[in-house]
Amino acid sequence: MERVIAKVLVNEEQIKKRVAELGEQITHDYADKNLLIIGIFKGAVPFLADLIRQIRIPIRYDFMAVSSYGSSTNSSGAVRILKDLDRSIEDCHVLIVEDIVDTGLTLQYLKENLLGRQPLSLKIVTFLDKPERRKVDIHPDYNGFVIPNEFAVGYGLDYNELYRNLPYIGVLKPEIYEQ
Ligand code: IMP
Ligand code: MG
Repeated sequence: MERVIAKVLVNEEQIKKRVAELGEQITHDYADKNLLIIGIFKGAVPFLADLIRQIRIPIRYDFMAVSSYGSSTNSSGAVRILKDLDRSIEDCHVLIVEDIVDTGLTLQYLKENLLGRQPLSLKIVTFLDKPERRKVDIHPDYNGFVIPNEFAVGYGLDYNELYRNLPYIGVLKPEIYEQ
């Protein structure tokens, strides 16, 4: 699999260290609060699995699946909910866990949708932030790494549904896209 990778943007050691820091910060910020973590399928799964085990307070988690219409490397902004939450969030402090904020359209939609359900609070944690590509004014409250405007794969991020299982963040060789 490593044959397809042109370069590594974030290695396994950096991921481990940063996720532990985020877990510590979230533990501190949500002490004594009823925290519901909402993971966004499918990309956020590895990050969520690592992050929750670095949070030292009792939490709940649930998942949503959304589809953004558009190609595999570009989202159009139109979002549809494919899987919704199991229950209401009115008594919860909600933390959305996402793999990456790129244009910001997906998170903007999710944020507005979830705010409409009146949670006690709503924050966002993203593993990666690509600020150069932003189309809407959305800022994650917590972020793992800021990356340049390159298409990243690994640690949940896919190209055509592949490479999510790479244990680090890499950039594909150009010939992989051109196939
Ligand atoms: P946004 O709506 O443009 O912010 O992008 C949201 C979704 O696009 C993410 O949840 C990813 O699934 C996908 N995406 C954006 N940038 C990348 C990337 O560099 N690699 C893989 N997927 C990406
Ligand atoms: Mg994707």
